[in-house]
Amino acid sequence: MNSADENVARSEETLDAGLRTLMDRAREVAARSYSPYSGFRVGAALRLTNGEVVTGTNVENVSYGLTICAERSALVRAVAEFGPDIRVEAVAIANLNGAASPPCGACRQVLAEFISPDAPVVFPLANGTRVMPFSQLLPLAFEMDLK
Ligand code: THU
Repeated sequence: MNSADENVARSEETLDAGLRTLMDRAREVAARSYSPYSGFRVGAALRLTNGEVVTGTNVENVSYGLTICAERSALVRAVAEFGPDIRVEAVAIANLNGAASPPCGACRQVLAEFISPDAPVVFPLANGTRVMPFSQLLPLAFEMDLK
């Protein structure tokens, strides 16, 4: 596969086995979504460098604004379970609505804290499954470098 092909949405069957398993875990946890307001059921699965997979789902709130996305709920859970030194080496995002669900901007910035730039992130688009290295999803993430 050449580098241009990596930017094209494709069928999930072409993913490597590790990413397909991660996708399955994301779909599984999406079934536990608390989303009475949007009906949009999202799941995220993070593979950590310690080999563990941690999942999360979206938890909505009647205030709407206090809703937490699947990706951030997985990250918070990963830190709670394995501590502040975790590193994320791959991410899968799925939804049960047959819709596109790239991670939102807020979740990208929060992922940036714990993820390697070359970690693959896999998510559904309208025309198939997309895999991108994290650095392409969030170039120029905010960093605080006080002089
Ligand atoms: N949502 C996620 O879980 N992840 C995202 O990256 C974007 C949006 C959830 C939040 C809300 O419960 C629903 O999708 C509709 O926005």
